Amino acid sequence: MAIISSKKQPQEPERPKQQKSDRPVPLESDLLQPQAAPDEQGKQEQSIRPQSFADYIGQKDLKDVLDIAIKAAKARGETLDHLLLYGPPGLGKTTMALILASYMGVNCKITSAPALERPRDIMGLLVSLKPGDILFIDEIHRLSRMTEEILYPAMEDYRLDITIGKGTSAKTRSIPLPKYTLVGATTRFGALSSPLRDRFGSIQRLRFYEPEELSLIILRTAALLQTPITEDGALEIARRSRGTPRIANRLLKRVRDYTEVKATGTITQNVAAEALELFQVDPCGLDWTDRQMLGVMIEQFGGGPVGIETMAAATGEDVQTIEEVYEPYLMQIGYLQRTPRGRVATPAAYKHLGFNPPNQQLSIKYEV
Ligand code: ADE
Repeated sequence: MAIISSKKQPQEPERPKQQKSDRPVPLESDLLQPQAAPDEQGKQEQSIRPQSFADYIGQKDLKDVLDIAIKAAKARGETLDHLLLYGPPGLGKTTMALILASYMGVNCKITSAPALERPRDIMGLLVSLKPGDILFIDEIHRLSRMTEEILYPAMEDYRLDITIGKGTSAKTRSIPLPKYTLVGATTRFGALSSPLRDRFGSIQRLRFYEPEELSLIILRTAALLQTPITEDGALEIARRSRGTPRIANRLLKRVRDYTEVKATGTITQNVAAEALELFQVDPCGLDWTDRQMLGVMIEQFGGGPVGIETMAAATGEDVQTIEEVYEPYLMQIGYLQRTPRGRVATPAAYKHLGFNPPNQQLSIKYEV
């Protein structure tokens, strides 16, 4: 990811080397991938991004906490504490950092850990910061050890320690940094080292969105795109959006195409359902891979428990993608459980795929 600045800078810092990302490039069949596609980082995306807490739908607890932090920091004339945002991809971590910068009246520099491979990448960024600026580092769990160690004093004491020379003749110089706020974002809280985690003054989680919240987001985006849509049309798309605004907005655009070509121009519930069936997004937002994963668990492993490595081998997906992309949503909707012995498909997953749940007597007894 390139470094993006929320304001024009008179002097650009040296740009960190562009990194190849191992993020999959979404194809048409990747409609439900929560990662941003390359064409989703352009002007149109910027124009539909909420700019304030009032525009930002959902995540009420997080907004309340941040609103207090902003007011307190402003009243004291201080910068915000370093903030770690974690949660599944596509829920609005970058947007939140941009909103914080806007309330604090500061610049926000956006980068991601894979772009900070060499020590000079992070150093260049740190020395370019102005007082109060926000530095947003996405995928912060992927920082190299060296970059992380440069960050420790830079976060704690606003100091950049530079080592000149090697071996016994090496000398350390310290450069003072202005007070700034590091906003780190991660989808894997558990993968952060504890020294890094401990340097964040505030650690906040973003949750999946409820269908009603996603529906409001879809109505808002549709209004900005001047796309006619009914409320139940929006809810139909919302239900299939895996609790994720980025997916909701992407599905909205595909349904808009379908509606303009095949229907009357207004997105109604029937039209949305028809379009999403065509795109193979099922009524719960599951795609082919989700159904394959659950199907393999049920048909080949009696519903589990199944180890994650076995699941990866049986489905051809890698462990990290299963853990970060597929499982969080399947767990959220109650189709999958993680147990110490492995993954288990729930009775709801059996029913969704048209199988009879095991121990049906037992589940009926417990459900009553
Ligand atoms: N677009 C993406 N995320 C959003 C949110 N939380 N609120 C409003 N619009 C959004």
